[in-house]
Amino acid sequence: MTHETEPGQSRTPAAEWTVRGSDRDEFPEVVRVVGEALLAPDTVEERLESVSPLIDAHGYDRILVATDADEVVGSVNAFPFEMTMPGGPRPVAGVTGVGVWPTHRRKGVLSALMRRQLRDLRARGESLAALWASEGGIYGRFGYGAASTESALTVAQPHSALIPDAPRDPALTLRLLSPEQARDQVAEVFRREVPARIGRFQRQRVWWDRVFADTPNVRGDRSFLKVALVSDVRGPVGYALYRTRRVLDRTGWQSELRVQELVAGTPAARVALYDHVFNRDLVASVVVENTAVDDPLWNLLADRQRITAVSITALWMRLVDVPAALAERSYAASVETVVEIADRYAPWNAGRWRIKADEDGAGVELTDDAPDLSLDVSHLGAAFLGQHTLAARVAAGVVTEHAPGAAARLDAALRVAHAPVCGLIF
Ligand SMILES: CC(C)(COP(=O)(O)OP(=O)(O)OC[C@H]1O[C@@H](n2cnc3c(N)ncnc32)[C@H](O)[C@@H]1OP(=O)(O)O)[C@@H](O)C(=O)NCCC(=O)NCCS
Repeated sequence: MTHETEPGQSRTPAAEWTVRGSDRDEFPEVVRVVGEALLAPDTVEERLESVSPLIDAHGYDRILVATDADEVVGSVNAFPFEMTMPGGPRPVAGVTGVGVWPTHRRKGVLSALMRRQLRDLRARGESLAALWASEGGIYGRFGYGAASTESALTVAQPHSALIPDAPRDPALTLRLLSPEQARDQVAEVFRREVPARIGRFQRQRVWWDRVFADTPNVRGDRSFLKVALVSDVRGPVGYALYRTRRVLDRTGWQSELRVQELVAGTPAARVALYDHVFNRDLVASVVVENTAVDDPLWNLLADRQRITAVSITALWMRLVDVPAALAERSYAASVETVVEIADRYAPWNAGRWRIKADEDGAGVELTDDAPDLSLDVSHLGAAFLGQHTLAARVAAGVVTEHAPGAAARLDAALRVAHAPVCGLIF
């Protein structure tokens, strides 16, 4: 193995560790460390079997490790995704595999890995990174901002009627299939949806293996995975992947139907899928997981107050290269503003940037002019997908507004038509 090494930035003088690139030979060690950090219940061999196909598909050359006397004590990786951003599909580094060996935590290991990863991503010309965080307290300091929220929506069966004028198309057909029967059609519908939905990334075969994984471990006390597939005369236009959990107690049937993913290319296809899942017999409640906050169900259910929504933070976004990331984005309105950015982990981003943007694109350059806004780069990451506003952060006192209304004007330019959804933890 050949590795570029750099000294670790430990706060413990006695500890000697380095951060360097890794490779396939060392992968079992990486899996051991990350599995332990994440309290994985399975063995290293079992985990290797489940994660190796993903890394085989995406490559081992982006894994970084921290070592202490040649022992791996920390790791981080990044998948080279094509993910939809405001403006269209873009290369986005999907940061993953983050873990530090329990005896080495809180000594600066992750900080050093993050610093090096940001440098590497920039050198590769990747201007954006995204991740799902195990805990919300970790990544803000590294310049990531909580950029999207997704929800699981629960509707009890007696309250699941849709509005009378929900769009229905009698020409559509719906079939209930097994994953084996429907896999290619599901992938085709999804591939068409990706460019239209901020937060989605194109799934290679290994990702579909993960989506369709149906081991007893994944299934728990639920049924095998089912696919409701809606087609028109030209082919498939929507699908719902779901499982049922059969419950029969003294009060009668209390079964649950849980939708893992519902994707539809047209409003009528979506309604056909809702009609199917809300009308399964013996089901007392339906949960639709992994929905955008503006999921059409909110406007289709006859009594929207009957929806119970549990929301989670989904994607954390990081502008690895501020001018490049902003220049690649699309804008909903014209804006010209000077933003003063602080960035501890990617110092090339720090400074005052003049952003001139309109519907045709953006120019971003360094300036000495007085700023309209001053903020940490993480706040720009949080606002990047257009779901969360900078004005809310000004109100919270964590972004400084020097020119009244500057945050609202930039928010108006960053606005997007549809809320983001990723729907798949990576
Ligand atoms: C999260 C984890 C990777 C952090 O690694 P680490 O080497 O201990 O992190 P560092 O020592 O570089 O910590 C840097 C800073 O982050 C803070 N921090 C680290 N983990 C944190 C957490 N879970 N919650 C809040 N703050 C955290 C540290 O207190 C430190 O703060 P400071 O700079 O103000 O002193 C490690 O604790 C771990 O492996 N946790 C379990 C697995 C996990 O959650 N992985 C992330 C998956 S998304």
